[in-house]
Amino acid sequence: MPEAFKAPAGAGLTAGQYEDMVQKAHQDPETFWLDQARKLAWHIPPQQASRSDFKNDVRIDWFSDGRLNVSENCLDRHVRTQPDKVALIWQGQDEDQKESLTYQELHARVCRLANVMRRLGVKKGDCVAIHLPMVAEGVIAMLACARIGAVHVVLFGGFSADGLAERLSDSGAVLVLTADVARRGDKRIPSKTTMDEAITRCGAESRVQHVLVVAVTGADVPMQPGRDLSYADEVAQELPDCPAESMSALDPLFLLYTSGSTGRPKGLVHGSGGYLVWAAFTHATVFDHKPDDIFWCTADTSWITGHTYVVYGPLANGGTILVYEGLPSWPAPGRWWDVIDQYGVTAFYSSPTVVRAAMREGDDVVRSRSLASLRVIGTVGEPISPEAWQWFHDEVGKGRCPVVDTWWQTETGGVMITAAAGCVTPRPGAACLPLPGVGAALLDTQGQLVEGPGEGLLCMARSWPGQALSIWKDHDRFRQTYFTTCPGYYFTGDGARREADGYYWITGRVDDVVNVSGHRIGTAEIEDAVAMGHEVVESAAVGIPHDLKGQGLVVFVVPKEEGVFHPSAVNRAVAAGVGRYAVPEKIYVVRDLPKTRSGKIVRRLLRKIAMHDLKGLGDLSTLADPDIVQELIALVKTQD
Ligand code: PRX
Repeated sequence: MPEAFKAPAGAGLTAGQYEDMVQKAHQDPETFWLDQARKLAWHIPPQQASRSDFKNDVRIDWFSDGRLNVSENCLDRHVRTQPDKVALIWQGQDEDQKESLTYQELHARVCRLANVMRRLGVKKGDCVAIHLPMVAEGVIAMLACARIGAVHVVLFGGFSADGLAERLSDSGAVLVLTADVARRGDKRIPSKTTMDEAITRCGAESRVQHVLVVAVTGADVPMQPGRDLSYADEVAQELPDCPAESMSALDPLFLLYTSGSTGRPKGLVHGSGGYLVWAAFTHATVFDHKPDDIFWCTADTSWITGHTYVVYGPLANGGTILVYEGLPSWPAPGRWWDVIDQYGVTAFYSSPTVVRAAMREGDDVVRSRSLASLRVIGTVGEPISPEAWQWFHDEVGKGRCPVVDTWWQTETGGVMITAAAGCVTPRPGAACLPLPGVGAALLDTQGQLVEGPGEGLLCMARSWPGQALSIWKDHDRFRQTYFTTCPGYYFTGDGARREADGYYWITGRVDDVVNVSGHRIGTAEIEDAVAMGHEVVESAAVGIPHDLKGQGLVVFVVPKEEGVFHPSAVNRAVAAGVGRYAVPEKIYVVRDLPKTRSGKIVRRLLRKIAMHDLKGLGDLSTLADPDIVQELIALVKTQD
């Protein structure tokens, strides 16, 4: 291992102390996790850590005899000790749009909104949908829900009205927070009118009573009397204090929808106690958190990364978070590096897609900035190639900052496998080692444990505090999705390789999920949307490698009427059914798809054909129509 890759020992934990933690968490998990839990503020401290069970009906159960409030943990206890410390810095995409809130100020803003929600009739256990861009109100809304025991459901600004409607109906949200209009570089996104359309589409299934509209651009938007209210007007009427609801550790804190191998997105449920313990523990350990850190996680709050490392982890630890509204290279390349220099960001947590895009802009862009304040840098969401890792290490981290590639999922609540800064020596391109208490395991397709070095399905042998409790209103789907492939284990959906010394390398999803720039997209979601267009017989979506996005989507479509069908119909259907972010890279209009005799589409072949990788196509004689393969190869060749 070259000297440069040896992470410096952080002031927090030495490598030896970290190794001790790994041992303790392994030998006596009950004591270890109760000790971690005691770092939070509880109304009733838990006496028991886990009663989880991966067998039978599956039960995820952490700290269940404890009671707490998540917003008190993120605000009140810091207001008592450091009221004037900056909790949140917000920078809008235009230079003059900015604000900075101390813990005291953030507490007051959260309480005012929590009081509005209570006045509007939102009760403990009700769902509240948050559909906001990266503005301070997005964070405030999440914490206000936590304060009154409402379950937040943060919805991505890029979802189509259909995508929003599906999630509004499934969650049964009673209140929605949206923006008038959101900014994305020069583009304007009509958040309010898209939300109006979504609520209309829910029809009788909608339980939405009120829509609170945050004036992000100040644009005039239609307001439905009685239902729609101005956020600013409402919070102005309330007091800056609001008693917090006492929650069981197992009461849901939020739902977050993610994609799987079926068309319907699933609402993963995260609880209050275990999730917060995991958020705080992993934020402190992985990033070697220091009190003076300015922590910038660039993820949108509508993804799990934004939940855990924009909001809950750093605020539970009393840190300072930066929320930046804009794009990495708008109005010009290097904008994010300027933000780091402007605010003295110490921890920068982003994605391989951002790193790849920055590499393309040329080294001069990053070299013309100082970046001297950075202490630790990280990525998440997709594999980072050794080359991109090295560039990030050398050019952004200037060879001084530990690089933490972090493997985890919506389901895991927080980081699971990484090279914790200052504690574990990273290996470029590898996810590295499981965190203390994480029982990573590899199983073969027969469900047998792979010992030592080898490759297999990445599973978890035991529960960890951040594990999702269930799928909203569908525990059986939770059990079936995650606990039947490898009985007795949580199955992640990823494949991995393990070296002799225990380092993990993620090999990618083994199910029909494609990762486009860190967006997790189910191929079935795409195919369902295409089918809604009514002009197709069937379609198949596959993911293939993409230089910038990691993976790109390719759709093969069999139209009802070949001569009149235009591929743009597929784009329209995907944009309407899922959202513009899922629009495919390439569409091939074909006569038929390769299928087995029992009618199953052979996606492996489609993937290889789309990649022009014609070696090892295998035995085609078992296909229903073997000739279709040559036909598709010829078609792809002429169209690329
Ligand atoms: O395939 C893995 C990939 O992203 C999936 C989880 O996606 P999502 O639930 O949207 O959460 C993303 C942010 C936590 C995983 O199943 N993935 C995530 N991180 C990495 C990764 N693949 C390789 N390396 C990573 N560091």
